Amino acid sequence: MLTLEPGAFRRALLRWYSSHKRDLPWRRTQDPYRIWISEVMLQQTRVAAVIPYFERFLAKFPNVETLACADERELLAAWAGLGYYARARNLQKAALRIAEIGAFPRDHATIRALPGVGDYTSAAVASIAFALPHAAVDGNVKRVMSRLAADSGNVRQLADRLLDPERPGDHNQAVMELGATICLPREPLCLLCPVAEFCLAATTGKQHEFPVRKLKSPANRVSQQLLVLKRRGSILFWQRPAESPRLAGFWELPEREHIADAKVGERLGAFRHTIVNTLHDVTVFAATFAATAQEVGAGFSWLPIRSLNEFPLSTTARKALMKSVKLKP
Ligand code: ADE
Repeated sequence: MLTLEPGAFRRALLRWYSSHKRDLPWRRTQDPYRIWISEVMLQQTRVAAVIPYFERFLAKFPNVETLACADERELLAAWAGLGYYARARNLQKAALRIAEIGAFPRDHATIRALPGVGDYTSAAVASIAFALPHAAVDGNVKRVMSRLAADSGNVRQLADRLLDPERPGDHNQAVMELGATICLPREPLCLLCPVAEFCLAATTGKQHEFPVRKLKSPANRVSQQLLVLKRRGSILFWQRPAESPRLAGFWELPEREHIADAKVGERLGAFRHTIVNTLHDVTVFAATFAATAQEVGAGFSWLPIRSLNEFPLSTTARKALMKSVKLKP
């Protein structure tokens, strides 16, 4: 086994990070609130997708107090498109808790106990905002660690052992950065890697064998036909009830089979959309109501096109509407 000397590894990694790190908006701040928001957004969403959301969200909710008393509809509208909406609801619950405490908690256990904060996010926030020595282990970090040791086994133990206790925030972000830009899943760029000499997989030509891939369960697939029913500058939507297990309170376009009286017209387009592990094949049609059937059932509402951005629309509905009306991105 290659002896991975932590001191030399940390120095090589941090030297590389200081000259190669991307200029990301949450790297320009020490504010734990902003760092926390960024880490929650980054839990399931890629950096490039997060940046515009991060900027907009912070312009709207610049501190714990504004988030704690945000209107739920506005909060979900600001999150719409990022997916995994439980994150937005948990952010608000956590903001209320922080407001109760009186300041952003500075110790790892209290950060870890906030709603929506798991091992990864608590370690990231504690290390980046407060320089506390906790290794943040996400999917990128697991890949880097498993290649370093040529072993997909105990990656957490290795991450803990390598963590630089002097600069844990930079160290954690440097490992993430390495995973995002060099130690790529399919084609790792070992020739450019600042720590290749410490890497057992790279030095034995086995970088493609790690991490050992688990077989994925087959994705479910469903077909959906959505209708864009327009009437006097409005479009027909239904709102998911408060007790809906997914996307409670979000607005959706009606499905063809739910509107018996619709006269289906032009096909506007089609797209695919993955939600958790289900692939939706969505086709979008323009439709009109038969003249005698103007009344819609309970749960349906006509929303004015010019103020659609004020409503939390599901991503499926947004994608479908792009085929027929102009929405702000
Ligand atoms: N992914 C998760 N946290 C990140 C961070 N702070 N910087 C870049 N990518 C990340």
